[in-house]
Amino acid sequence: MSTTGDRPAKVSLPELAQLARDGRPIVMVTAYDFPSGRLADEAGVDIVLVGDSAAMTVLGHDSTVPATLDEMILLARATVRGARRPLVVGDMPFGTFQVSDEETVRNAVRFVKEAGVDAVKVEGAGPTLGRVQALVGAGIAVMGHVGLTPQSATLLGGFRAQGRTAEAARRLLADALALEAAGCFAVVLEAVPAPVAARVTEALSVPTLGIGSGAECDGQVLVLHDILGLYPGRSPRFVRRYAEVGDTIRDALERFAADVRDGAFPEDEHTYSIPDDELAEFEAGLERRA
Ligand code: KIV
Repeated sequence: MSTTGDRPAKVSLPELAQLARDGRPIVMVTAYDFPSGRLADEAGVDIVLVGDSAAMTVLGHDSTVPATLDEMILLARATVRGARRPLVVGDMPFGTFQVSDEETVRNAVRFVKEAGVDAVKVEGAGPTLGRVQALVGAGIAVMGHVGLTPQSATLLGGFRAQGRTAEAARRLLADALALEAAGCFAVVLEAVPAPVAARVTEALSVPTLGIGSGAECDGQVLVLHDILGLYPGRSPRFVRRYAEVGDTIRDALERFAADVRDGAFPEDEHTYSIPDDELAEFEAGLERRA
């Protein structure tokens, strides 16, 4: 790994392409703030996605749709401060790339300049293809996303796997190829049957990043809160939970609350001293005032 001073160099697009060519899986994870960005960096992940899943995991909405560009920029700016080595990708929220090429570029430029992300991600193909071309033309690296695209879950009939008929699989492959032709440096495949994702990965020369799309993709991405067990409720079937951090946090908070209520916290070691003579003078002053 090359370095800039004592700071590790940022993961580059050619490095990601090389990992895929070498058959070494690319690791991508979502992060939404300084500590999660820093921990992802320390764990050696290649790409950090400031996903619009933040609308659900961080902001408590029922879907990703309500996320605003201002909210995403705030979260991404903090994440970028923590994630120094991984490539940081900002997810363009719903409404920021649907209206026109010009507005899309203006919004992405804000993401890059105000948050410091290295690239942006957009969902879908079709009308999104022109937007990708406009963004790449403006000098912004773009990650595509096909299969289950949560921003259009209503149109897709809900949060369900995509590409499960021959016709749907053909369309999905065509969309992924079109995103590559439009200039995407990588494409997320979400909830796509593993054999279909494998064919798409074979057909594309840019890396694919799978989420619920089998082991043949060039890399894998999961949502941080799913990995950590920090999001309430049942996880999708493609998630493996590596920790139950939610339980750990709740237990710590319960013990803190109990200690405060029992008088077991704070103890002397958690407080600061004042020299005896200073305290005596302070108290004498109080008595005089009384
Ligand atoms: O917003 C997000 O977290 C995503 C990933 C699921 C790829 O788009």
